[in-house]
Amino acid sequence: MAYLEISDLKTYFTKNGGSVFAPAVEVIRAVDGVSLSLEKGEILGLVGESGCGKSTLYRTIMQLIRPTAGSIVLNGENLALLPPGEIRRRRLDFQMIFQDPYASLTPRMTVFSTLAEAIKQRHPSISKAEIAQRVDHLMETVGLSPALQRKYPHEFSGGQRQRIAIARALAPQPKQVNADDPVSALDVSIQSQILNLLKKLRAELQLTMIFITHDLGVVRYLADRIVVMHSGKIVEEGEAEALFRNPRNDYTKKLLAAIPKLSAAV
Ligand SMILES: Nc1ncnc2c1ncn2[C@@H]1O[C@H](COP(=O)(O)OP(=O)(O)OP(=O)(O)O)[C@@H](O)[C@H]1O
Ligand SMILES: [Mg+2]
Repeated sequence: MAYLEISDLKTYFTKNGGSVFAPAVEVIRAVDGVSLSLEKGEILGLVGESGCGKSTLYRTIMQLIRPTAGSIVLNGENLALLPPGEIRRRRLDFQMIFQDPYASLTPRMTVFSTLAEAIKQRHPSISKAEIAQRVDHLMETVGLSPALQRKYPHEFSGGQRQRIAIARALAPQPKQVNADDPVSALDVSIQSQILNLLKKLRAELQLTMIFITHDLGVVRYLADRIVVMHSGKIVEEGEAEALFRNPRNDYTKKLLAAIPKLSAAV
């Protein structure tokens, strides 16, 4: 069995018609029978047009939304069956990196406080000396000088802030990290630095990651495997390079053709 195994996962939302002419309850099948597996240390690229269900899929995997049906088995344990009291604790196993690092960091907290708080979520009774050591190490891991840890988020550049957000995600020692378009707001040169950092972390820490993006060039560079979602379902899945060279599904072909710089490069 794979490290993370998702079987026939369904997350449905219900929406009232909202008018007397449409009183019926509408069902939105945001995730509609998704099965996928992830090995430890693997980066899975998740692509698909806006509204296809990417965020709902990772939110369900992270137990932020309970699935309508299906199973999420992490390291041999079915999370969909956990009692509600357990779920909060298990959320620590999943951490996120977002598009806008500034929004995901607390402006009034120094980098040290942000990282210390995240470390304490996992280890509530950890000593001050141990926290200090771990914060230094996290800073180094993401390529920042530990000397900067008493600064505030606004004192950093966008790329540095994304490094801090990555350190924050790593601090509670998650089993899996999800990234929702984490480089699209950055300059191209900074984008590649962050992607290289993620590659390095994957190699060093065996980081297991679902990486969501609208930029197919980014997943091609970073992901081992790519999953293409459309209307809540997986329509194509394959090894990254093979999928780019030989897309089989019409929707994937359209997605690739919609990216001018890519169609020129392929
Ligand atoms: N909490 C919710 N309640 C009702 N409908 C929702 C909710 N969250 C998402 N949806 C609907 O589920 C579908 C999938 O949304 P989702 O946010 O997962 O798409 P996405 O692929 O992440 O899109 P984007 O690329 O724009 O971020 C959409 O139709 C959306 O309107
Ligand atoms: Mg989304």
